[in-house]
Amino acid sequence: MTENQTAAPIHALTTRRSTKFLRAPAPKPDELQQILQAAMSAPDHGALRPWRFVVIQGEAIGKLADVALEAVKRSGDPRMTPEKEKSVRAWMADVPLFIGVAQKIAHDNTKIPEQEQLLATGCSVMNILNAVHMLGYGAFWSTGVGTYVEDVQNALGFDSLDYRFLGFLAVGTPACAVPPAKRPDYREFVTEWTGPA
Ligand SMILES: Cc1cc2nc3c(=O)[nH]c(=O)nc-3n(C[C@H](O)[C@H](O)[C@H](O)COP(=O)(O)O)c2cc1C
Repeated sequence: MTENQTAAPIHALTTRRSTKFLRAPAPKPDELQQILQAAMSAPDHGALRPWRFVVIQGEAIGKLADVALEAVKRSGDPRMTPEKEKSVRAWMADVPLFIGVAQKIAHDNTKIPEQEQLLATGCSVMNILNAVHMLGYGAFWSTGVGTYVEDVQNALGFDSLDYRFLGFLAVGTPACAVPPAKRPDYREFVTEWTGPA
């Protein structure tokens, strides 16, 4: 590979940043296919394919807001004040695409630890976030919108006995120019081990 061929993908990885405020257009259908296909390339011990996704777009987003916010209110969450509800609804109304993320719980698999299955699902989401960015869109992983309320995941088809619901990816076009994110220097997080002391 030439230097140019390697520089572009690395640049894409290091410039991704989450963008919460999104607008239409969403990725086109063929782009969405590429984005979801990218998730299938996540590392996956035992090829369990634990990741599951549900696409929510168009009028279904308003229905998701109704179902999720009613469920959060029923759950008695004191943070769901009328003001909070209004702002979540306004935010969701602008986002053209949500992808719900769940992990299928492999009840009968004792060989692959559950944390590895969760990590595989996290990696699949990372591929989605990077693919979205590489196609010129923005995304934001949120565990708001009733992610941890059982009625919400059940409503999306992920019964809580078999699935762990992991949140929503809001996807679309950034609503405003997004400055580059400040990232830490990797050397703060990396050591080199050269053998026993
Ligand atoms: C599993 C997961 C759940 C998250 N849930 C929320 C959330 O509910 N609200 C929020 O403000 N950020 C949440 N975040 C963080 C944002 O998605 C985002 O990563 C953060 O704003 C930093 O931006 P960056 O990805 O550009 O570093 C979550 C991140 C992860 C990995």
